[in-house]
Amino acid sequence: MKHWRIDDVRWERFDRSKLDPSLVAIVKAAAMVERNGTDYGIYLNRVFHDDPAFQRAADNWSAEEVQHGDALGRWAMLADPSWDYQDAFRRYQQGYHLPLLAAESSVRGSRTGELIARCIVESGTSSYYSALADATEEPVLKDICKLIAADEFRHFKLFYDHMRRYLQREKISLARRLMIALGRVGESEDDELAYAFYCGNDTPGVPYDHDRCIAAYMSRAMSAYRYRHLERGIGMILKSVGLPPRGRFSDMVVNLAWRFMQRRRRRFVRAAAAA
Ligand SMILES: [Fe+2]
Ligand SMILES: [Fe+2]
Repeated sequence: MKHWRIDDVRWERFDRSKLDPSLVAIVKAAAMVERNGTDYGIYLNRVFHDDPAFQRAADNWSAEEVQHGDALGRWAMLADPSWDYQDAFRRYQQGYHLPLLAAESSVRGSRTGELIARCIVESGTSSYYSALADATEEPVLKDICKLIAADEFRHFKLFYDHMRRYLQREKISLARRLMIALGRVGESEDDELAYAFYCGNDTPGVPYDHDRCIAAYMSRAMSAYRYRHLERGIGMILKSVGLPPRGRFSDMVVNLAWRFMQRRRRRFVRAAAAA
């Protein structure tokens, strides 16, 4: 059951004078990735083929992700009436295929690992949409991002609860859990987002260039983050792997991660300007 519907959004409050073109560009990209949730749902159904309770939860989860894409896509078409969400998504689907779509079991090596990777993604999305909600002055986008962020926090809890269940059975080590989490964080700079930025923002004649597109996306996305958003996201990541989400250790990790993120952001801003 979805917690909200696209028609619940008060679209009539849209205010063109509050638009930030930089946010419009990343919302178009985010719409592509979210809309692609169906494929990930198919993969999760295969990985958890003998767990009907989880399969039902995964189907519901992917329907919510698709709705995130549709809401963001509809907003981006309001912001830029020349943009066609369905057309951009068709291009994305034709050119980008989840690398794990053909896998019969989890690419993370275990079901616990799969669920940890899902927790990492939901930590990222919940903090990201919270950051976008705070960064935008446009009232409709603010509302949509708050609704989506609330879903992403619930998704985190969903995957976290199932992960705890599988961890009792599979008992994978803390070191292994940490490696999976770090690996998934690193994947955020792969083609999934870069290609989404490309399909959302470049005309079909322009060739795809991963480095240019990831710099264009990340320079904007990272600029929306404030310390508190990262702090919450890192706390959730630590919790996923079984480390304390608050306290002296997590403060240190957040501090390091913030400095690392700012360095990456400056690098992406320079690369985007050079392109
Ligand atoms: Fe989402
Ligand atoms: Fe989610």
